[in-house]
Amino acid sequence: MTSRVGLVGLGYFGKILLDTLREIPGVDVVAVHDRFPDRANDITLLNAHFHNRLEDMFEQETMDAVVIAEIPGYHLQPTQLAAAKGMHVYCEKPMANTPSDCDKMIEVCARNRVKLMIGFKHRFAKAMAYAKRQLPRLGRPYWAMYTYPLWKVDDPGWKFDEKGTRGIVVENMVHAFDIMRYFFGDVRSLYAEGDHFVYPNTTLPDSAILVARFENGAIAGIGGGCTSEQRVTREYLDMHFEKGIVQVSGKLDQPYNLRILMRDEPLPEDHSFEGSDGVREEIKHFFECIREDKEPLCTGSDGKKALEIALAAIESIQKHTIVSLASR
Ligand SMILES: NC(=O)c1ccc[n+]([C@@H]2O[C@H](COP(=O)([O-])OP(=O)(O)OC[C@H]3O[C@@H](n4cnc5c(N)ncnc54)[C@H](O)[C@@H]3O)[C@@H](O)[C@H]2O)c1
Repeated sequence: MTSRVGLVGLGYFGKILLDTLREIPGVDVVAVHDRFPDRANDITLLNAHFHNRLEDMFEQETMDAVVIAEIPGYHLQPTQLAAAKGMHVYCEKPMANTPSDCDKMIEVCARNRVKLMIGFKHRFAKAMAYAKRQLPRLGRPYWAMYTYPLWKVDDPGWKFDEKGTRGIVVENMVHAFDIMRYFFGDVRSLYAEGDHFVYPNTTLPDSAILVARFENGAIAGIGGGCTSEQRVTREYLDMHFEKGIVQVSGKLDQPYNLRILMRDEPLPEDHSFEGSDGVREEIKHFFECIREDKEPLCTGSDGKKALEIALAAIESIQKHTIVSLASR
């Protein structure tokens, strides 16, 4: 059966999601919304109707699901409108600006019995997914180091709004926080240092390094920000376990290479998953969850927890203190 989908937000990532949705068999994008009418000119509508008012889209269209790619402060409203009409929700990371918005999104989706999936594409990149399946044979996690730096974005705009998204730690490093939770579980406490090296007019850090202690005793260092250069930037995740070592690497957001060395084996196994950045895989997964009535791999709770790590990192930077997440 075909899923009729509405897309909310036609910015940089909304357009990528539109192309991705149109590649998936059984998915029909019937409506698109952007609050800036000009954005309709950036896309080919095909059989989709464009709506400038969000409410019009929900009043006039028959849809099974929505995909939300607006700025994080505007993720709650379309989630509420969709859930109230029994539509499933896929929402881009970061899930929202505040944990309180996350709670409202989780509550309204649960009450209306619709799926809520948060777009943490890294979990679906084949290298990460393969590494995750090896956890049972790797034994106890010891420590990890994750380098995840973005380049300097031209106009920081909404990404550095003290009342909004609260900078690159929330907007971008949240991917790395989610991945570390995916492998090591919940964070117990963290300490972070950060600074604004390239955006002197913001109080929010454009660079941050944090050390996290996980509930299971593992530790991780995570570094990111937006001081790199698009020409050379890369991500690199090095994880040490009792029985083996896992290395995932590639250009930023292209973690295609995987090396696993089991300590009792002479040679590592190497994999290259060229082209798998997780975006196509995560969108397919969302529709599979709808069809098969399964819980998505990235839930609202995962979205909220990753946001809480980001906000705790900012708090730690601003107060120069260790922040506990144990009670959150
Ligand atoms: N998963 C990923 O790899 C990935 C990559 C990039 C962006 N994203 C996420 O997608 C969402 C949109 O990001 P983007 O990069 O497409 O942003 P963008 O600036 O290109 O587009 C912003 C979108 O939000 C809307 N908007 C509402 N109020 C706005 C305002 N005050 N200023 C600017 N835009 C406003 C715009 O109409 C547009 O639809 C964010 O949640 C972002 O974190 C995810």
